[in-house]
Amino acid sequence: MTSHKINVALGERSYSVIVGHGVINNIDDFVPKMAKRAVVVTQKNISIQPTLKIESTTVFIGDTEEHKSLTTIEMLAQKFAEFGLTRNDVVVGVGGGMVTDVAGFAAASWHRGTPVVHVATSLVGMVDASVGGKTGVNIESGKNLVGAFWQPLGVICDLDALKTLPPREMRCGLGEVAKYHFLTGDDLLELEMSARIARCVEIKAKIVSEDERESGGRALLNYGHTLAHALERSSNFSMAHGEAVAVGMIFAAHLAHAMKRISQDRVDEHYSVIGDAYGLKVKPDETIDRRKLIQLMHLDKKAISGLTFVLDGPSGIEVVSGVSEAHLEQAFDAMQLSEN
Ligand SMILES: NC(=O)c1ccc[n+]([C@@H]2O[C@H](COP(=O)([O-])OP(=O)(O)OC[C@H]3O[C@@H](n4cnc5c(N)ncnc54)[C@H](O)[C@@H]3O)[C@@H](O)[C@H]2O)c1
Repeated sequence: MTSHKINVALGERSYSVIVGHGVINNIDDFVPKMAKRAVVVTQKNISIQPTLKIESTTVFIGDTEEHKSLTTIEMLAQKFAEFGLTRNDVVVGVGGGMVTDVAGFAAASWHRGTPVVHVATSLVGMVDASVGGKTGVNIESGKNLVGAFWQPLGVICDLDALKTLPPREMRCGLGEVAKYHFLTGDDLLELEMSARIARCVEIKAKIVSEDERESGGRALLNYGHTLAHALERSSNFSMAHGEAVAVGMIFAAHLAHAMKRISQDRVDEHYSVIGDAYGLKVKPDETIDRRKLIQLMHLDKKAISGLTFVLDGPSGIEVVSGVSEAHLEQAFDAMQLSEN
């Protein structure tokens, strides 16, 4: 079956991402020649696991964000020590974005930097989390506040893993896939799933290559995220990230239209890609509190000068600061959101 190979061009830290069915069998291509041992970091419910030629051990970490913690990093470091993992060896993260973020950060800190290979098993992991080298864990004050940039030696996206991915997790991934439709002018819907995932990886790889440390263009990957983060927080995280991103992109389209940056046709295109093609919700189930959402959006990490959004416009998607509350109100009205 066809597989796709995408290069993430980062000079001496460049690497490949392999997308396709059964590509987990290529894992040895990414194991460094010097490595004698590997620690596989994964979770109990991950259905695919690699077979490595070198001596290996598997360490299971807990499921859910609460285990994306410094306690898990300490536990892993302890296991690395017991197994005798050296800096010439390798860590292999096998799972969704939570696992690859944790395995990546454990590898980045172990002996101040040990090679890591990722096997992404969720759709979010494949099109986003495993590519680009952002690793980290949560602390009580917030998500992903402790971390490091640590590029993997390679990434495997084996589509066979998606057979066991729970439907809600699949929807979250589709929210991110939908995002890539608007980052370029491509019609990704034309492509079959494996080629579409590969194209998403290629788009992300290009953005990362141009802005490895997120000082500019990488912020575009946050399309739909300003309202999404506020929705996640105001729903006490009962709304999943990908679901919130889908609604956030619809909101961003209405906002861009209210600011006369895009036409009604482009807004309609958001509904047809997000709602019709991917079957995602285009507004929250619950009534919303606009004031609270606006307050939360003011706290967004990108909000350096006033309310900041990633918005579509005549020159494509870009970061726009100083958005007025009047425009936000117009966008909320256009979405016909019910308020409490
Ligand atoms: N580093 C980055 O650039 C980046 C980008 C986006 C998201 N993230 C992070 O990624 C995480 C979200 O990733 P996610 O959506 O993959 O969540 P996740 O890793 O928590 O996985 C969601 C659930 O799906 C299960 N799962 C994963 N693959 C499976 C499979 N093949 N079969 C059955 N179950 C499977 C997991 O065990 C978990 O229960 C968040 O922590 C987020 O902060 C990081």
